[in-house]
Amino acid sequence: MEQSTKKRMLSGIKPTGKLTLGNYIGAIKQFITYQEEYEMFVFIADLHSLTLPIEAKELRQNTKDLISIYLACGLDPEKVVLFKQSDVHEHAELGYIMLCNSYMGELSRMTQYKDKTSKLGENESIPTGIYIYPTLMAADIILYDPDFVPVGVDQKQHVELTRDLAERFNHKYSDTFKIPVPITAKTGAKINSLSNPEKKMSKSESDKGTVYLLEDVNIIRKKIMSAVTDSDNLVKYDPVNKPGISNLLVIASALSGDSVEDIASKYSTAGYGTFKKAVADIVCSELTTLQQKVKEIQSSGIIDKVLEEGAQKASYYARRKLSKVYRKIGLR
Ligand code: AMP
Ligand code: TRP
Repeated sequence: MEQSTKKRMLSGIKPTGKLTLGNYIGAIKQFITYQEEYEMFVFIADLHSLTLPIEAKELRQNTKDLISIYLACGLDPEKVVLFKQSDVHEHAELGYIMLCNSYMGELSRMTQYKDKTSKLGENESIPTGIYIYPTLMAADIILYDPDFVPVGVDQKQHVELTRDLAERFNHKYSDTFKIPVPITAKTGAKINSLSNPEKKMSKSESDKGTVYLLEDVNIIRKKIMSAVTDSDNLVKYDPVNKPGISNLLVIASALSGDSVEDIASKYSTAGYGTFKKAVADIVCSELTTLQQKVKEIQSSGIIDKVLEEGAQKASYYARRKLSKVYRKIGLR
């Protein structure tokens, strides 16, 4: 395999639930811009979807949608190693080794773990998967020695833990892994819920507040028109006092490429109705095109071939790294 002189970048999304506008702006759109400049690895983190209960049928459909969305957004399998995590068995194997090199204390300090367990009822058990998840995520990353890992702000802590685990391993067994640097986008690193603009837009937040990439655009328009705002009718970027309007400004800016300031000054006194309609137009136009492309890709039959080739390329790197690890720790 030819060596690239470009810096390497890796990221993934798990096929849990339907993809949202938050995933699109915070993650996928960033990948597209990076694919020119970096040697990119992008994967579907399907093993991570098993950390909370999920039906087989749903997992299969989500995986198909996610790969179609990656392709429809413009990720080019000629430029990017695009694959499914479970097709490359080294992820689970190195995940186990990372688990054995981690401490319960550091895993229980993870914010996402604390958040997810705090939402469980008093009599519900904590699934072990959500606890050990960051050790698998660490393996996903360091198998490929990336320089950078683009993630939304919520995932930054997991990349920091990855750095700790990689450094610990290097220290114990000699230099083996590159220490990855997390990067978060300036605009759109956190898109908030339309109905609860102080909270992240997420697959598990309220339906009203979440724009799904593949839902009917008429519903999307309604959700944006009824986004929660304040009542002073002035369009201004002020995330503390005007979280709803600020969130819409960030969305419009991320999709149109215009700056938040420019959009805010254009609509400063136009009234919220006019402003929301403009935001809805931007979002709906982009998503109509995306949905059309997703349909074309799903009926074209190219998905299996893309995933098969991607898995072959990824395995080449993963196999070499894992066998190095096995030798160092004494399994070989
Ligand atoms: P998840 O949906 O949690 O699997 O996240 C997949 C990727 O999308 C990660 O890089 C997240 O940080 C990013 N992401 C998810 N929700 C949002 C959001 N509301 N705003 C920005 N980025 C997000
Ligand atoms: N944990 C990430 C999320 O929930 C998905 C993910 C798994 C990931 N492995 C990764 C992201 C490695 C970046 C790098 O969004």
